[in-house]
Amino acid sequence: MSEASPGAWVAERSAQVKGGGRRPGDTEQSTLPPTRLGLEVKGLRVVYGDFVAVADTSFRVEPGASFGIVGESGSGKSTVLRAICGLAPLSAGSVQLVAAGTGTVAPPSPGSKPFRRLVQMVFQDPYGSLHPRQTVDRILSEPLAIHGIKDEQTRIERALDDVGLGGGFRFRYPHQLSGGQRQRVALARALILQPQVLLLDEPTSALDASVQAEVLNLLEDLRERLGLTFIMVSHDLAVVTHLCDDILVMRRGQTVERVSAADLAARRVQQDYTRSLMQASGGFVRASSTR
Ligand SMILES: Nc1ncnc2c1ncn2[C@@H]1O[C@H](COP(=O)(O)OP(=O)(O)OP(=O)(O)O)[C@@H](O)[C@H]1O
Ligand SMILES: [Mg+2]
Repeated sequence: MSEASPGAWVAERSAQVKGGGRRPGDTEQSTLPPTRLGLEVKGLRVVYGDFVAVADTSFRVEPGASFGIVGESGSGKSTVLRAICGLAPLSAGSVQLVAAGTGTVAPPSPGSKPFRRLVQMVFQDPYGSLHPRQTVDRILSEPLAIHGIKDEQTRIERALDDVGLGGGFRFRYPHQLSGGQRQRVALARALILQPQVLLLDEPTSALDASVQAEVLNLLEDLRERLGLTFIMVSHDLAVVTHLCDDILVMRRGQTVERVSAADLAARRVQQDYTRSLMQASGGFVRASSTR
């Protein structure tokens, strides 16, 4: 397979998967590849000075799947996501989009503009990630301008609808929004480029419990409706067990084990470290005892 222009890739994938992922009103110019993409990470290593933040981490997330990363604070979870989207330097290893089915044209490679459009990150803290002096409209327009996308009005309205905020929120500033509404705007900013892979860094940890549940339900709904692939970091084992199919457990930059959500829920885990995370996660104890 060879790296090709996004146009060639879109054309080939469109021919293979007719209509999937498109919505009424999409124009060719505004439409991203209509098939699903997953992501594979091989031998990922991130080093800051002489500190190894992430060592030899590998995993593959199939198109449309939801993958969780858990571990104590400082274990390298956010760094893995940052390395995937090019915000942390790779000392070794590779990141590659993987397409459903077979094709002769490779999906866009990391560092390319199409890759940056297809793989979007939602940051840990909605308070810090939205510019306080920009309206929601401006926040949502910016990625469209960067990627030269013209149908701004339609995209902004659709993104706000997708996250359950109507057009009434369009000209508000972040301080005029609740925490949950702010995180919905952060999500709309990621969705506006019609990505295939969402990197979610603790998407609900800054929210109180009732709002957390709303945002998690919204995420689950969006994944299903838009055919997205999720890679989600969380401290909360109940959250990843509920939302993810497979889970990577990390400690001090290393992989401890990989476990399915079903095994985690049934406490079939191999490593003591994973057991100690389960014990530390009060929510997990509650969630698994009510199964
Ligand atoms: N830019 C950087 N320069 C130096 N060290 C860094 C940098 N970014 C992260 N680190 C270090 O890498 C380690 C992993 O950080 P990371 O943010 O990935 O942890 P985390 O698992 O996401 O933790 P938390 O759950 O608290 O968010 C930490 O020790 C952190 O101090
Ligand atoms: Mg983090």
